[in-house]
Amino acid sequence: MISYKSVWSDKTGRHRQLEKSVTKQQTAMFGSEVLHEKDKAQRVQHHFNIVSSKYDLMNTILSMGIHYAWKKSSVKALALKPPDRLLDLCAGTGDLSSMAGKIIGNAGQIVACDFNWQMLKTGIKKKRCRPFSKNTNFIQGDAESLPFSDEQFDAVIIGFGIRNLTHLEQGFREIFRVLKPEGRMVCLEFSKPKTFWFRLFYDFYSYKIMPLLGALITGSKDAYTVFPESIRIFPLPDEIVSILSEIGFKNISYKRLTDGIAVRHKAFK
Ligand SMILES: C[S@@+](CC[C@H](N)C(=O)[O-])C[C@H]1O[C@@H](n2cnc3c(N)ncnc32)[C@H](O)[C@@H]1O
Repeated sequence: MISYKSVWSDKTGRHRQLEKSVTKQQTAMFGSEVLHEKDKAQRVQHHFNIVSSKYDLMNTILSMGIHYAWKKSSVKALALKPPDRLLDLCAGTGDLSSMAGKIIGNAGQIVACDFNWQMLKTGIKKKRCRPFSKNTNFIQGDAESLPFSDEQFDAVIIGFGIRNLTHLEQGFREIFRVLKPEGRMVCLEFSKPKTFWFRLFYDFYSYKIMPLLGALITGSKDAYTVFPESIRIFPLPDEIVSILSEIGFKNISYKRLTDGIAVRHKAFK
């Protein structure tokens, strides 16, 4: 049995994800595992190397297809229009880029950036059979040190990526840097469901069903054990608001999706 009381971190636990603590202690969390700060990126890369070919399928099965609705509403929240230039950060296999492409069309430009080549490669293959904008480019790059000069993008979207960074504030600072003045950002990330009874069901599903499905489909039980753990130690929506506001973002708001399983933050430079 899992202890439902202990799976969601308290404030002290969540604050271990923050840069101040990571840099001071030189430790980072990978799920419930404590690593040296320098080793986390490599573990994240390894994780996505294992799941990349089955990533889209797993997302659809595990979320029962709901992730498409969350992603669609996040792209819509960016209020894109041609000829906007959009950065899809931690783009993975490019779902958000593909959805944004339908709005921006071929007049704008989309840069799908991720540091994992296997995930990008899966996205590039998908581009051949899905309606991506002609002007979508896949670029390998680290979200903590983006390979772009200042004020390049009208909008930035990051879907289920920020949780993976070693220094999450640094990721947000980089987003702020590459946004044009008045540019907008949407960050979609998993979070803590609001309703107690729903949380009980979600915890059971996350800890008992997800790892089993992960093992069956990707061959790795570990990959989908780390996944629920990383969600439960991630800062809560109001804590993300504080981080964004300290960096300088304005008009910050958030919306809980599906009782708060996912949260969509929106902010402006
Ligand atoms: C859960 S996937 C999300 C993919 C996609 N955005 C989606 O919503 O389906 C997280 C992605 O973040 C990428 N990622 C993690 N850390 C990163 C970093 N430091 N720089 C760039 N990409 C990173 C991973 O390689 C992975 O493709």
